Amino acid sequence: MRKPLIMGNWKMYKTVPEAVRLVKQLKVMLADTVDVEIAVCPPFTALQAVGEVIKGSALKLGAQNLFWEKEGAYTGEISPEMLTDIGVDYCIIGHSERRAYFHETDADVNRKVKAALAAGLGVVMCVGETLEQRRAGLTQRVVEEQVTNGLAGLEVSQADKLVIAYEPVWAIGTGENATGQDAAEVIAMIRRVAAGIVGEEIAAEMRILYGGSVKPGNIKEFMAQPEIDGALVGGASLDASSFAQIVRYN
Ligand code: 13P
Repeated sequence: MRKPLIMGNWKMYKTVPEAVRLVKQLKVMLADTVDVEIAVCPPFTALQAVGEVIKGSALKLGAQNLFWEKEGAYTGEISPEMLTDIGVDYCIIGHSERRAYFHETDADVNRKVKAALAAGLGVVMCVGETLEQRRAGLTQRVVEEQVTNGLAGLEVSQADKLVIAYEPVWAIGTGENATGQDAAEVIAMIRRVAAGIVGEEIAAEMRILYGGSVKPGNIKEFMAQPEIDGALVGGASLDASSFAQIVRYN
């Protein structure tokens, strides 16, 4: 059975005091949640402080990016080991905003995924098509390519900590979400492609999330799809009560 994972991606929001306040509220509001795994991904500057607050609770800590080297002269970068060192559980890799604004390629994503898994981090690898690609009928092809390239050469023994998030670019921050059924179809395809790389057994256990304008009002539609194993939430994760409502979709 795949335990649902609901993850808040705080992006470049929240100072340290704001992050601490938000996670303290979540800790109280979500204290009795057992059927859903919950993770929050604050900016790098707030990781340690948020980690202190959630220590001993069921909430997990995620980062939003990393670099693939262990250490070195890479000004401005953060290694997987630096994240595990401060108790980070997950790292989002290949978010469409990183691909669009920071020119991350599938090859970069692949190196990051492998380095993060090798360091023992859980990985949430993001894939998704743009509006132009969707209109041109290229959704399946684009997403298949991102999954194939992102997971190329992965050690199957490390793949049990891998999560994939399907985030159609046109649905991110736009208020325009995919339908549950559309998302489920793409996610079913992602699982088939992943199975070709990591094997049927691991792919069957792998969580594949939907992301893109997830809100308290539409989370049920996604979670009603057996193929969809949770959500990567942006804007609606910045407010404690809306994120808590999403986690308690049942
Ligand atoms: P929104 O929920 O704000 O659309 O963002 C989705 C996202 O990018 C999560 O990673």
